[in-house]
Formats: sequence, structure tokens, C-alpha cells
Amino acid sequence: MPRILPTELFALLSKHVGQDSAGMELRWLRAAARDPHHLQSLVSRRTSGEPLQYILGTQPFGPLELLTRRPVLIPRPETEHWTLRLAELIHPSSQDPISLLDLCTGSGCIPLLLCHLWPPGSVQAVGADISSDAIQLAVENAHRCGIHVSTFHSLLRATDSNGNTFTPLLADIRSLDFAQSSALRSPFHLITSNPPYITHEDYAKLSPSVKAYEDPRALLGDPQPTPYGKGLTFYHDIAKLAAREGFLARNGVVAVEVGIGQAEDVQRIFQEEGRLRETEIWRDPWEVQRVVIGRR
Ligand SMILES: C[S@@+](CC[C@H](N)C(=O)[O-])C[C@H]1O[C@@H](n2cnc3c(N)ncnc32)[C@H](O)[C@@H]1O
Repeated sequence: MPRILPTELFALLSKHVGQDSAGMELRWLRAAARDPHHLQSLVSRRTSGEPLQYILGTQPFGPLELLTRRPVLIPRPETEHWTLRLAELIHPSSQDPISLLDLCTGSGCIPLLLCHLWPPGSVQAVGADISSDAIQLAVENAHRCGIHVSTFHSLLRATDSNGNTFTPLLADIRSLDFAQSSALRSPFHLITSNPPYITHEDYAKLSPSVKAYEDPRALLGDPQPTPYGKGLTFYHDIAKLAAREGFLARNGVVAVEVGIGQAEDVQRIFQEEGRLRETEIWRDPWEVQRVVIGRR
């Protein structure tokens, strides 16, 4: 490969990401590169549209540095923001521990950050996802963050760790028998989710670098396309789970991320189908209605 000068690499990157970001990205790529040839190949991956986080292999999420790998969704700053806020709302302790179910867990970012922030022995988390790539990455992330990975069998013993635990679960949360899965020990005190919520119409308009690298299953809110679908399929499923007898504990909390313009619909779904009360909507740092909270 002919050697390209650093100024040429900067010019190449600038064309793709703009001058303001190019300098910063080049610094990060240089830090990740083994040698000048490797740096050139990283820059060429970037200029062909690959997301920076897949090239660097990690993404900060609160105080954690999580692994990122295609096709698993890269954790977004808005998700980080509400997870940090949720961590301050609920105060589990080793004397009063809680069980957490994170639906559509992806990289495991939500439950792993909560396990990291809450006191040792205060939370047993389960993260469910339909994608084996996601479950594999979530397990690697738990190890990386020093969070004990529990299997279903060790969970039954529940004595093998004094710290917080993360149990990965490869499952379709929409399947009729999901709630009866033997790996789930309800009632849950907290259910969290950042489910797929993009409409088919908006998916068609997404940037090619998102569509080419991130799993469509992580993005499309209506797995079976329906005319005028509003991307709300998963919220109906989550509300039905929350409404099941004994699934959500008394005073339990459900917190879900929503797409732009979906919050009020999801709030209604939570009230009518989830039998949840004291629902509220949280905004993200960009003033978008981003999270719906409900309580049993
Ligand atoms: C928007 S991503 C969120 C990932 C992660 N929670 C985050 O915030 O970065 C949605 C996730 O839902 C998973 N998913 C899609 N359909 C599912 C289903 N039927 N059951 C379980 N997980 C599903 C995808 O594999 C993907 O990891």
C-alpha cells in the first residue's frame, strides 16, 4: 500500500466527517493503530462509512468503556443520559436488593451501567436479546466491567456472588412463552428497555452507514411491516408483560426509551394495556421526549 502523508489522511477524513471532527477522529484512530499502514486502513474504513465506534472497538457509557462490534447497536448518548438518571431515582441496597429485567439488551449497556453504579449485592439483572451476537457482546462487556456473569443454574443457587450479577438470556421477548422462561425469576422490581422503535418509513431515510452496519432487527419498531405502522409494536409487548399477574412487583417501575414523537402514544399504551400508573415522560439533553416511566 503506498504510504499516505498525515496531512492527506486529514484531508481524506475531513471530506467525510468535516474539518471540525477530522482532527479529533484522526487522534483517536492514531491511538488505536498499530503502525502507519494500520492507521491508513482504519482511515479508509472510516471514509467508506463505517461508524467510528466499530473501528475503535469501544464506546464510553457513563464511567464504563463498553466493547462495540457490528452488528450490535452502538450505545447512544441519549440512552446513557436516562440510565444515569434512573440510577439516581432508585436506591437498592444489599439489605433491600432488587431484580432487574432489561428487554432488548444489545451490548448490555443499560443493566451493566446500573450494576456498576448501584452498591454490591443490590441488584440481580437479566438482559434478554434475540441476537446471539448481542448476547455474546453483553457477556464480554460484563466481564470487562467486572460484573459477575450468572447462568440460570447459578442464579437458582443465588449465593455464588456477593456483588451484582448479570444473567444473559438469548430469547425472543415477543414470543408467547417468553414470560414463562425458566431463566426469569419474577416478580421484577424494575423493567428497562430501549427496544427497536424506528418506522419502516424512517428506516428508509437512515444514513447508509447505520443501515450497512447495524442490525435492522435492532432498529425496526414493527418487525412485520404494516401500513401506517408507528414503530410501537415492542411497547405493546412490554406493556402486556408488565400487566401479567406477578411479573412486575408491587411499586415496580418500567422505564423505556422511545423515538421522537412516540412518548404520548407509549404513555397511553402503558396506562391502558400495562395497567401502569403515575406515568411520566422524561426529556433528553436535546429537549426531546425520550423516556416513558410507569409504575405498578
Ligand atoms: C435499539 S437496540 C437496543 C440495544 C441496547 N439496549 C442499547 O440501548 O444500546 C434493540 C435490541 O433489541 C433486540 N431485539 C430485536 N427484536 C427482539 C426480540 N423480538 N426479542 C428480543 N430482543 C430483540 C435487537 O437485537 C437489539 O439488540
